Amino acid sequence: MLNRHIVLAANPVGWPKLSDFETKTAQFDLQTAGNDPDHVLVLETLYISMDPYMRGRMRPGVPPPRPTLYSPFELNKTIEGYGVSRVLKSKFPEKYPPGSFVTSISTAWADYQILRQDELTLLEETRMIVSIPADEEEKLHIPLSHYVGPLGSPGVTGYVGFFKFGQPQPGETIFVSGAAGAVGQSVCLLAKRAGLRVVGSAGSDDKVRFLKEKIKIDAAFNYKKPVGGSLDTALAQLCPSGIDIYFDNVGGETLDAAIAHANENARFPLCGRISQINTAEADQYQLKNEDVARAKSISLSPFGVSADRPKLLDSIYGVVKPQITAGEWREFKEDVRVGLDAAPSYFIEMMRGSNFGKSIIEVKNPKAESVISKL
Ligand SMILES: NC(=O)c1ccc[n+]([C@@H]2O[C@H](COP(=O)([O-])OP(=O)(O)OC[C@H]3O[C@@H](n4cnc5c(N)ncnc54)[C@H](OP(=O)(O)O)[C@@H]3O)[C@@H](O)[C@H]2O)c1
Repeated sequence: MLNRHIVLAANPVGWPKLSDFETKTAQFDLQTAGNDPDHVLVLETLYISMDPYMRGRMRPGVPPPRPTLYSPFELNKTIEGYGVSRVLKSKFPEKYPPGSFVTSISTAWADYQILRQDELTLLEETRMIVSIPADEEEKLHIPLSHYVGPLGSPGVTGYVGFFKFGQPQPGETIFVSGAAGAVGQSVCLLAKRAGLRVVGSAGSDDKVRFLKEKIKIDAAFNYKKPVGGSLDTALAQLCPSGIDIYFDNVGGETLDAAIAHANENARFPLCGRISQINTAEADQYQLKNEDVARAKSISLSPFGVSADRPKLLDSIYGVVKPQITAGEWREFKEDVRVGLDAAPSYFIEMMRGSNFGKSIIEVKNPKAESVISKL
């Protein structure tokens, strides 16, 4: 049978273009796949996640001697990222039984994939692969796609950023940028549950309406046409007691505006700077209010979750999974597009804000008949 796979054809300059990607097709022999002694898992891709960090891996770079999970993508090699797959064949059936699922950061932008022992070892050491029982959705009512949303990188990032670096107290005001996105929604839902006043910004009126009506945050504005005509006036009006926590998903001038409206000893988990990610370094926005941040003793905390992930994953799952089962995350919005071929255009569109919720490509519907029945 045929295996489609998408490779990085060229390193993007500025905004990625469709010509930076190429879809290739190769024969895939399901019967012999995994026979090589070094091949440990044969996987069928179900979902792939469109994540802004992947833009960083598309920059030119020399692959390190021992590749890491964040190494630059090699040209003409299959792109990999977060995703969910079905296990077709396994050399470790107790841990990864055929018919069960895995979520990992090395999910190929392909129909099928074979994992080698060294790749699996690296994923297990960093807990970047998680086994999901075949009956998880049926038993716990957790959609598999949530493993790239509330239970995936966005959820874990939101959780660590909010609780560890935000140090929230009930009654405080948190401002969340990129609030309608995957990380942003997670933070808004956690912050409302923790009893904070939540103010969010997003890039369209529909997203602002969704945040107020579905996620039920206290106030939201469209940063492209802010209340009162500027970020300053919007924040002054919507955060009358000042900002105690700013969860920064976008960087740039929004970070400067949040510093100007922050209270003393405010905490700023700096999660990402998507507003600058496609801009050449020399042209990137330079922070102007650093001295103001110093005068107010604001904790500016750029953070990543990979170091925390192995030890925190169980506790995060322990809190968030029961909440999902209880329906408390039902308003978390996913924006699922169907078909592997749509991945390059959706990745580009996601960074321009056309996604409305967690951006996911459904390569294969988990409920559709699987090739596993042919084994
Ligand atoms: N620290 C970590 O370990 C970690 C892990 C995961 C993600 N992140 C970061 O978290 C942020 C959100 O990621 P996500 O996965 O949740 O993606 P997302 O928010 O679901 O999707 C990206 C969104 O960014 C917004 N955006 C694009 N250009 C913008 C601009 N110039 N100014 C403001 N917003 C802009 C768009 O929404 P609008 O319509 O609202 O503009 C777009 O929908 C990113 O910065 C990402 O790099 C960090």
